[in-house]
Amino acid sequence: MNLLAPPKKSEKTQVQYTLGLFDDLPGAPGGVRAIGGQAFVLEGFALPYIAALLPLLDSIKRRAQIRHMVTPGGFTMSVGLTNCGSLGWVSDRQGYRYSAVDPLSGEPWPALPPLMLELAREAAQKAGFEHFDPDACLINHYAPGARMSLHQDRDEKQLGEPIVSVSLGLPATFLFGGFERSDRTQRVPLVHGDVVVWGGADRLRFHGVLPIKPAEHSLLGPWRINCTFRKAGH
Ligand code: SIN
Ligand code: FE2
Repeated sequence: MNLLAPPKKSEKTQVQYTLGLFDDLPGAPGGVRAIGGQAFVLEGFALPYIAALLPLLDSIKRRAQIRHMVTPGGFTMSVGLTNCGSLGWVSDRQGYRYSAVDPLSGEPWPALPPLMLELAREAAQKAGFEHFDPDACLINHYAPGARMSLHQDRDEKQLGEPIVSVSLGLPATFLFGGFERSDRTQRVPLVHGDVVVWGGADRLRFHGVLPIKPAEHSLLGPWRINCTFRKAGH
């Protein structure tokens, strides 16, 4: 699907139909913006979870510290990261992959806390993906200036499962592209509490994050934290 072209009739119908499902959800904290046929921004969806979520993230970071990984090409990532769940995403000169152990400690990654699992499941369900059962949560830390270049998430074994991406702290511009790196991208503004879910026909879209603008967030100070939930293993 080319996002620059007006949606084909079938795509438009699908978006409208899916959005129609959300209209009668009582107490939904925010709106839903479609950024693809099977890709949505759930505005403020994580807000009710934040008070419980932040201490969980602190405890994960104490056990599996934030580190700056090196890409296969030899660049050090500007984003600092850690993981929780039975699998964690890692990168080094040998490539990108999922690992059951934290290479810094040699220990398993901290478990995925039930509250985080629930947040990911509920968000996936709201976007039309039932029974999402993530086993990996990548926790990215962006200081001002940090960015994520355009990439596809394709290290997971089950590409039928969606991606659920929770934004906390400083605002960001998320880039949501097509199936080639050179395809035009949409600029998607994301703020604290927003959740992006993409899967199905949109699962392999290129995406990235523009450099974070310097600012202070009332809860997280000069940081953006992004938790990305995936089903990585079998
Ligand atoms: C990612 O693609 O891993 C991160 C996306 C984000 O930080 O919003
Ligand atoms: Fe990604």
